[in-house]
Amino acid sequence: MVASTVAPLSFLLISYVSHSFPLTSLLRSSSGLRFSFPVSPLYSRNTKYMAHTVAGATLGLTQPVNIEHPKISFAAKEIDAVEWKGDILAVGVTEKDMTKDEKSKFQNSVLKKLDGLLGGLLAEVLSEEDFTGKAGQTAVLRLPGLGSKRVGLIGLGLAASSPAAFRGLGEAVAAAAKTAQANSVAIVLASSEGLSNESKLSAASSIASGTVLGIHEDNRYKSESKKPQLKSVDILGLGTGPELEKKLKYAEDISSAIIFGRELVNSPANVLTPAALAAESSKIASLYSDVLSANILTAEQCKELKMGSYLGVAAASANPPYFIHLCYKPPSGPIKAKLALVGKGLTFDSGGYNIKTGSGCSIELMKTDMGGSAAVLGAAKALGQIKPPGVEVHFIVASCENMISGTGMRPGDIITASNGKTIEVNNTDAEGRLTLADALVYACNQGVEKIVDLATLTGACIVALGPSIAGVFTPSDDLAKEVFEASEVSGEKFWRMPLEESYWESMKSGVADMVNTGGGQGGAITAALFLKQFVDEKVQWMHIDLAGPVWNDKKRVATGFGVSTLVE
Ligand code: BES
Ligand code: MN
Ligand code: ZN
Repeated sequence: MVASTVAPLSFLLISYVSHSFPLTSLLRSSSGLRFSFPVSPLYSRNTKYMAHTVAGATLGLTQPVNIEHPKISFAAKEIDAVEWKGDILAVGVTEKDMTKDEKSKFQNSVLKKLDGLLGGLLAEVLSEEDFTGKAGQTAVLRLPGLGSKRVGLIGLGLAASSPAAFRGLGEAVAAAAKTAQANSVAIVLASSEGLSNESKLSAASSIASGTVLGIHEDNRYKSESKKPQLKSVDILGLGTGPELEKKLKYAEDISSAIIFGRELVNSPANVLTPAALAAESSKIASLYSDVLSANILTAEQCKELKMGSYLGVAAASANPPYFIHLCYKPPSGPIKAKLALVGKGLTFDSGGYNIKTGSGCSIELMKTDMGGSAAVLGAAKALGQIKPPGVEVHFIVASCENMISGTGMRPGDIITASNGKTIEVNNTDAEGRLTLADALVYACNQGVEKIVDLATLTGACIVALGPSIAGVFTPSDDLAKEVFEASEVSGEKFWRMPLEESYWESMKSGVADMVNTGGGQGGAITAALFLKQFVDEKVQWMHIDLAGPVWNDKKRVATGFGVSTLVE
């Protein structure tokens, strides 16, 4: 029996104290990590970090509620589906499973048995409901004569083989369980005989993560919310034993990391300030202090490192920036590869002086501009739980807000990044790349062989690929292959885009080394070419633009995109 706890994001250690008595204190955590944080003398015992000025205090009346998510326990069983007792027996059905013999009876053995017990009622009701097994179809029927209160038929399409299809099954089961307020469900595939042992393991884990992610609702900012009832999920016919349990535990670790990422992105900018993001990061590090360590740099420390590009973006905000660096090291054994994951961490992007105006600019959604950092920190949490051997991973986020004030960057300003390169800021709304520039230089200085950066970088990438596919930019075919293989397992959608060097022409400045925005065309590509200026040639590098998939427009919530592929 594997228990899945959806860990609540017990959140945000913020105190609302004035900037007038900041006190930088060096805290030492149990793992000997170094956090240097301005800590209020009033709150230091509770390690509450300063995030706002007094003016921000009214905004701070909003606080996330710490909601206890019910624990869903998963069990893999080898029992006959018709013998199972509980609230919903969910059957994953392909279009082929729905074929009938010459006597109009199901050929599929599971459906045949169920239909037999129900005296032909199942076939009758399903044809009345036009259920053909197409992907996305669900029929939940309340039929007498079974051990289960309801039977749910869930369409898998022509043939279910991909992790995404099985995750979809789990999500559909979660939706049915919510509607029926079910406590217990069982999930079985109408035809699982043909599957290899390996496929069964991966199907079970995808079904489990789909269920957990489908049940999850972020109600922390609602004054009232219904609690999901689902407590137990039995997975039937996909094997039992330690190997499967290990897979389910892995699925649970990834799911809780995805939920963590979603909650970070859903949090509004008045709550999730750069200080709050830093506090969440160091909390992750101390939770898994056997493998993770944290180093959080203040603006002062970033200034010493000459991060003029990042600090230029941060300069207009009353909320101070924090540069987040977590490091994963395996509990034992040699380190064979060193990687860095760099995430864009704009807790809000107003555009600055080039303010986001007009319909379609989505300024009200710009709390999502830290989606890259949520993916990176979600991955850190997952690795903290999974503890893979042989790899050292650096998680790097130059977090800040892009605001407007007399202290902020003007269009036309020339700023200098930590590698000495100068940038004429011809558009203050192209701020993500400015923060990433210094983060990438810092990542290269960690002696890593590979860097993947993730950023909600351009509207142009959404125009090119739509809302559910992330753009991938890399000169390295090997790294592209690795990441695309990972995405096969995670089910997240990526599309490789060209790094067309001739487009660099539009990024030239008359007075500095480069400008930060090219013309209107190929905007996702010129953004990637800009980032490339800050990566050592020796390092294999990939940029992922997740401006589209970070957010689910229909559900109006974050997706947690990126976490599962990074972990793979
Ligand atoms: N954060 C935005 C990109 C974005 C847009 C993310 C929509 C999610 C949804 C980024 O900082 C930005 O403003 N990019 C500009 C770049 C332009 C000024 C070259 C854009 O895409 O318009
Ligand atoms: Mn912007
Ligand atoms: Zn932005």
